[in-house]
Amino acid sequence: MDRHIKANRDLWDEWTLMHEDSKEYDVEGFIKGKQTLDPIEVSELGSVKGKSLLHLQCHFGLDTMSWARLGADVTGVDFSEKAIDFARRLSNRTGIKAEFIHANIYDLPNMLDKRFDIVFTSEGVLVWLPDIVEWAKIISRFLKRGGKFYIREGHPFSKIFDDEIKTCEFKIRYPYFTPKHPFHFRGAETYTESTRKIEPMDWYEWNHSVSEIINSLIKAGLRIDFFNEYTYISSKVFPFLIRREDGNWTLPRDMGEMPLQFTLLATKV
Ligand SMILES: C[S@@+](CC[C@H](N)C(=O)[O-])C[C@H]1O[C@@H](n2cnc3c(N)ncnc32)[C@H](O)[C@@H]1O
Repeated sequence: MDRHIKANRDLWDEWTLMHEDSKEYDVEGFIKGKQTLDPIEVSELGSVKGKSLLHLQCHFGLDTMSWARLGADVTGVDFSEKAIDFARRLSNRTGIKAEFIHANIYDLPNMLDKRFDIVFTSEGVLVWLPDIVEWAKIISRFLKRGGKFYIREGHPFSKIFDDEIKTCEFKIRYPYFTPKHPFHFRGAETYTESTRKIEPMDWYEWNHSVSEIINSLIKAGLRIDFFNEYTYISSKVFPFLIRREDGNWTLPRDMGEMPLQFTLLATKV
């Protein structure tokens, strides 16, 4: 396994343990019946009742099982063994029927021989993937003809700016197009609050441009149905974002507008 992917997998095993009892993931709320999907996803993807759904990079499966609660027959995939273990335990505890596969998504074609009505993935997924052309081929490989691919993700344009800046301004820090070499990060914190303390760990991220994402999907045999951009997102991706009434984060009014997330629906032709 590539050393960058291995480092990221080790990191996600640790982050999973930190997320399990975080208030952001609110696992107890989920067990009691809370829906974790973003309302945009539910309204844009439409009814999933009776449909087979493959969730790529599912973490510990809260969104996967939320689709199951809406009637889908779900399969979640993640390369963190700890995340998949926890997802299976939650499925048993809640009685929600779901299959969880422990795999690097790039290895999935060697492990799963099935096609789905829907392939779904959301927020915080693309930066972990070195090869977006191969990613698109994998999506196409697992879709039935006429099947739908849906993604809600941080907007590539917003990902070029410094996300640790102390002042209220945008400063370009990262490349827009897929870099030859990943950016290296090192830290002992995740993006949720946690009581669990870890030693600093290394991780690696890749940015991907809008054209690379869209053209890879088209090349893999998908037709784009829509591409939407939003000026808000569910996580606080810059320190100066302000909270909207619906819980999403956006720019203060005097800073103008910025696309913070996008959604895309595509059909396998
Ligand atoms: C930010 S999380 C996705 C979050 C998800 N939207 C949620 O709210 O739970 C990213 C996930 O991608 C997984 N991941 C990263 N690289 C992967 C890869 N190559 N194959 C499979 N899973 C991967 C991580 O283990 C992590 O669970």
